[in-house]
Formats: sequence, structure tokens, C-alpha cells
Amino acid sequence: MKTVIITGGNSGLGYCCAQKLAQDPSWYIVIACRNLEKAQRAVKRIQEIGNSQQIEAMTLDLASLASVRSFTAKFAGSNLPPLSAVICNAGVQFIQRQTYTQEGFDTTFGVNHLGHFLLVHLLLKQLVAPARIVFVSSDTHDSSKTTGMPAPYWRDPQLMAYPEQDPILKNKNIGIVGRTAYTTSKLCNILCAYELSRRLQQQGKSTASQPIAVNVFNPGLMPGSGLAQDYTPVAKFVWHNILPILSKFIPNVNTIEQAGTALARLIADPELAGVTGKYFSGFEMTNSSTESYDQEKARQLWNASVELTQLKPEETIL
Ligand SMILES: NC(=O)c1ccc[n+]([C@@H]2O[C@H](COP(=O)([O-])OP(=O)(O)OC[C@H]3O[C@@H](n4cnc5c(N)ncnc54)[C@H](OP(=O)(O)O)[C@@H]3O)[C@@H](O)[C@H]2O)c1
Repeated sequence: MKTVIITGGNSGLGYCCAQKLAQDPSWYIVIACRNLEKAQRAVKRIQEIGNSQQIEAMTLDLASLASVRSFTAKFAGSNLPPLSAVICNAGVQFIQRQTYTQEGFDTTFGVNHLGHFLLVHLLLKQLVAPARIVFVSSDTHDSSKTTGMPAPYWRDPQLMAYPEQDPILKNKNIGIVGRTAYTTSKLCNILCAYELSRRLQQQGKSTASQPIAVNVFNPGLMPGSGLAQDYTPVAKFVWHNILPILSKFIPNVNTIEQAGTALARLIADPELAGVTGKYFSGFEMTNSSTESYDQEKARQLWNASVELTQLKPEETIL
């Protein structure tokens, strides 16, 4: 048996992925969630539906670097089956207000990128190869695609962490700023995944026979998930009631169950063993945006993230 950690596994995509993996008795599933009560309800549902006891919830708040460190310390002492996969799935989007993490970073950048950056580093020591890491991104990272979202706005990552210091954002509408922070964070997920994949290989930590594969997943639009928590009441109504009906007729719109199955496949399909540094849209391996392959931006993001998370050399194998 082997363990998979799924961040935000209590709802939406992460929950459906956990439900799918629970059908395979070789997985022990840890859903890592900010609200333990909600997470335990999700565990109970999965246990009842799948008749599986191989799942538990642990507390992880990605909006707190202290919580990320305490989660990984607790996991290290938990005596669970070997850690073989990490799915960085949790995500937030704010369109009505500016919010901050415990350390004072913009929440969207802090949760979607920085929290996962630190989490993965702290877990690298505990991963047992062959292993797989998946970052959940979104096609909204790609400005050449029509997604209804603003293009990502690349700049010094310090300004992504502290957007109030960015003069260009000063007079912009909060809805645009929030959506842009989201699409930019999804670009960061890809830059980070590709850079991690490269560094693991270059430093001999991931080899052909003992790979630590790092890939990116785009679920497509999945209306009805919890991602609309900060939408206006009207937008929430459309998200939960209208769009799910339309999803049957519009391409690139998926049910959460379909996307959960495709995400589970990225860590479970033997055919993908050793495939690393790739972007998957649902079941299809495809290209991400040109910008997401920019190695200079990836290095810049990496270095700033080390600084912002105060990652210590002894905390990572890289
Ligand atoms: N829905 C879409 O159309 C769509 C499209 C492309 C990509 N995605 C991506 O898919 C992923 C899953 O989103 P979803 O649509 O399934 O939304 P969701 O149902 O809201 O799931 C997001 C999960 O992240 C958790 N989370 C939020 N903040 C957290 C924090 N500080 N610490 C730990 N966990 C936290 C949420 O916990 P709570 O339940 O406590 O809020 C929830 O479990 C995200 O990365 C999103 O960007 C979604």
C-alpha cells in the first residue's frame, strides 16, 4: 500500500479524485484540509460510498506557512504507508475583496502557489520513488485562450505576494485584480511544476528507474464546485445551477466527477510512469502557454518563493 496526499480533498475536484482513488485498495488517502470538521464529513462519505477505510483527514491551512510546516511534521510522525504521490489541488479565487494569508501575502498567490511550493519541498524528503506530484492549474493561465478570465500578469513575484506595493494595480477594479491574481497563480503553478521537474532530474533526485515525476493538470471549467465562494449571489446562482446544465453541451466544460477521474489517472496510470514536466488537459497531454515554458521566469519565481517561505536548506533535498 502507498499514500497519496490531496490538498483540498474535502470538496470539488479534490474530493472526486479521492473518491476515485478510494476504489483502488493499493492507495491510502490523506485529504489535507483547512477545516477538519468538513474534511471528516468528506472522509465519512467516501468511506460509506466506497466501503473503504483507507482514508483520513489531516489539518492543513495553505494560508499559513506555520500550518504547512506543522502538517508535514505531523505527517512524518504518522507511520502511514510510504508517501508515493502529492496532489496540489486546493485553490481559491477572490473577486470582491483583497485578503491576506497569516504571513501577510495576497491569499490567492499565498494559497495557490506559495503554500504548495513549501508543502512540496517539505514532503520531498518523505516521498519514496517511484513517486508522482501533480499541480492543478487551469487553462485560464493561457492568454491565447478564450476563457472569460483576464490574462495572467507576470511581474516581480514580490509584487504578487504584496500587491498593494504594485502601482499598476492601484486604480484597478477589485474584481479584475482578483481574477488576474487567480490566472497569474495558475501560471505560477505551471512554472513551478516544470522547474521542479527540471531540478529533480538535473540533481539526480529523479532518475529513469526511480522517477519523481511532476506534472500539471487542467480540469477545464467545472461549474458547481466550491471555487465560487467569493462570487456575488447572482454569479453563484449561475455557477451552481445554470452552468452545470450547459456543461453537457459546451466543449471544455466538465463535470467535477469527469475531471476527478482524469486527475486520479495522473498518479495511478502505469502508462504515465516516468512522464514528467508535462501538461494534461483532462486525459490529453498537450502544451501549456508559451509563457509557461519561460525558464527565466521559473527561476525568478523559484528564488523569490524560497525567500518568501524562508525555506531552509535542511528542509529540502534540492
Ligand atoms: N472549478 C473550475 O472551473 C476550475 C477550473 C480550472 C481549475 N480549477 C482548479 O481546481 C482546483 C480545485 O478547485 P475546485 O473547483 O474543486 O474548488 P473547491 O470545490 O472550492 O475546492 C478547493 C479546495 O481548496 C480548499 N482550500 C481553499 N483554501 C485553502 C487553504 N487555505 N488551505 C487548504 N485548503 C484550502 C477548499 O477548502 P474549503 O472547502 O474549506 O473551502 C476546497 O477543499 C483549484 O486549484 C482550482 O484553481 C478549477
